[in-house]
Amino acid sequence: MFEDIDRILIDEETIRRELRRLAAELVKAFKGRDLLVIAVLKGSCVFASDLIRLLPLPLSLEFLSASSYGEGTESRGTVNLRFLSDDLRLSGRSVLLVDDILDTGRTLKAVKERLFELGADAVKTCVFLDKAARRAVDLQADFRCFEVEDVFVVGYGLDYAGRYRNLPYIAALRPEIYGGAPKSTS
Ligand code: PRP
Repeated sequence: MFEDIDRILIDEETIRRELRRLAAELVKAFKGRDLLVIAVLKGSCVFASDLIRLLPLPLSLEFLSASSYGEGTESRGTVNLRFLSDDLRLSGRSVLLVDDILDTGRTLKAVKERLFELGADAVKTCVFLDKAARRAVDLQADFRCFEVEDVFVVGYGLDYAGRYRNLPYIAALRPEIYGGAPKSTS
């Protein structure tokens, strides 16, 4: 696994520091609210679990799975959504949608739209990585940990073909591992 890594872009200490900064922002924004954190699987599992432990707030946690890439490196443009709870109560709550990466924006846009259809009246987005240069739809993150350049990255929940999610840092893979095109995504 480690021999596939080209370089570490964001190390563990930097992640810890920026998570604390982000958590302080979130505490300020959601103090006194009925906070519902919805983590978008699978990629956000590491970020969401680290983040909620830094939030000294009463909150509930839900998950939904969204998938658009399959095993490739480019978004297919369609997003498959599956909620894990059947009885999601959204109305009157402050929803914080958490994802590992905001890339084209199609996933979070689709999820947000669905949450409003299901009765949510307030949805904020919070992402670990923001690849702003890749945006294809009109959507900005309300909260983010890092902005990253347009290189294919893995680790801290992000995968390539299902692997590398367990790396504790964000790394660039050697281009030959994923087929060589440096301007593709994850
Ligand atoms: C990744 C990532 C985001 C989405 C971002 O999910 O976790 O949810 O893509 O891309 P977008 O902004 O272009 O929509 P993926 O479909 O790879 O599923 P995974 O989280 O299970 O790895």
